Amino acid sequence: MIVKLDKITKYYQNSGSNDKRIILDDLSLEIEKGESIAIVGPSGSGKSTLLNVISSLDTCNSGNMIFDAQDLSKLNEKELANFRNQNLGFVFQSHHLLPQLNLIENVLLPFIPVKDKKLKKQAEKRALELLDFVGLSKQIHQRPGQMSGGECQRTAVVRALIHQPNLILADEPTGSLDKKSAEQLGNLLVDINEKQGVSLVVVTHSMDLAKKMKKIYQLEDGRLKQLTIENE
Ligand SMILES: Nc1ncnc2c1ncn2[C@@H]1O[C@H](COP(=O)(O)OP(=O)(O)O)[C@@H](O)[C@H]1O
Ligand SMILES: [Mg+2]
Repeated sequence: MIVKLDKITKYYQNSGSNDKRIILDDLSLEIEKGESIAIVGPSGSGKSTLLNVISSLDTCNSGNMIFDAQDLSKLNEKELANFRNQNLGFVFQSHHLLPQLNLIENVLLPFIPVKDKKLKKQAEKRALELLDFVGLSKQIHQRPGQMSGGECQRTAVVRALIHQPNLILADEPTGSLDKKSAEQLGNLLVDINEKQGVSLVVVTHSMDLAKKMKKIYQLEDGRLKQLTIENE
C-alpha cells in the first residue's frame, strides 16, 4: 500500500452563512504500489479537490492521509514540500512548459538551483533517456511553440518523472488534446506505470482513458464507487 485516505471530509463554508458545501464526504481510498486508477465524475464533483488532498496541496477538514506508512498530518509545510518533491509527479490539463526554454531545459528546470555536478549530470542523463522513451529524442532543442500539443504534454510527463516519483497525479491530462494524441498520451501513462513501476492516479472525463487504468472509481456525492467496466 502506498496511499491510504481514511475517512476524509472536505467542505467549503459559504461566506456569510453557516451553510457547508460538502465536497468529500467520509471518503476512503487505498492505492497499492504500482496500481493505476482512474477517477471519473461530473464537473464540479470534487475530482481536483480529491487530487489536491492526495498530494497534500490542500488540507481536509477531517480524516487521515497516510503515504508509505507516514502520517502526512504530522508534517509541517517545509516537510510537506520535501515530501511532494521526493514522491509525487504532477501532470495537468495544460502542459505549463516555459515558452522561452527548449524541451530539455524545461525538463531540467528543477535542477537549476542544484549545485552538485554529479546530481546534475545524472538528471541530464535521465532527462535524455525519458525524452527518448516518449519518442522526443530528436526534438530536445526545440521550444514548446514549435511542438504539437501532444508532444508538449509528453514533455510535461517527462518533467513529472524527472525526480523519480512513486506516484503520478494527473488531472485531465488529455483534456486539451485531439483524439489521437490523447490515445498516445494514455498509452504512455500506462507504459510508465507498467514499465517504471510508478503508481498512477488519473482524473478524467474520458472513459477511453479511464478504461486503460486497472481500476475506475466514480466520484459522486463526495464518495467513491468502484465501477466494473467490461472490455468491449
Ligand atoms: N476554494 C474554494 N472555495 C469554495 N468552493 C470551492 C473552492 N474550490 C473548489 N470549490 C468547489 O468545490 C467543488 C468541486 O470542485 P473541483 O474539485 O474543482 O471539481 P472537479 O475537478 O470535479 O470539476 C466545485 O463546486 C467548486 O466550485
Ligand atoms: Mg477538476
